[in-house]
Amino acid sequence: AVERTLSIVKPDAVAKNVIGKIYSRFESNGLQIVAAKMVQLSQEKAEGFYAEHKERPFFKDLVDFMTSGPVCIQVLEGEGAILKNRDLMGATNPKEAEAGTIRADFAESIDANAVHGSDSEASAAREVAYFFADEEICAR
Ligand code: CMP
Repeated sequence: AVERTLSIVKPDAVAKNVIGKIYSRFESNGLQIVAAKMVQLSQEKAEGFYAEHKERPFFKDLVDFMTSGPVCIQVLEGEGAILKNRDLMGATNPKEAEAGTIRADFAESIDANAVHGSDSEASAAREVAYFFADEEICAR
């Protein structure tokens, strides 16, 4: 089925000037960017986004990192977009990410891991709505 998923190019990848290279991975693998914006997340916005991780030991570092510089947030659309994006990203820890994945090629550590992608249909729906109003998503 055609799905939408929420993708974030994290502060490390923005700082490394590889936004376009990462967007190319999406586009050359059948995903279309149907909404996009570059923003500096506030602490409140980042905490709300990662609310499910609130009790995890890495939560504070995660929020500090995600607010350390601008991010690019996009909605990707395509056949099986949620799983396809996760395959393109590779494992959360770049040391475990398969060769040729975004994290293997651009990420430094489990915190500075270049990209985020929704992990299920339910989180995709929540995460897309968290950052984009319906009228900001451009049907293609
Ligand atoms: P992300 O997909 O954005 O979702 C939560 C983030 O927490 C994850 O990517 C990692 O960057 C970060 N993180 C840090 N430590 C861990 C950990 N031990 N397990 C999972 N995620 C972690």
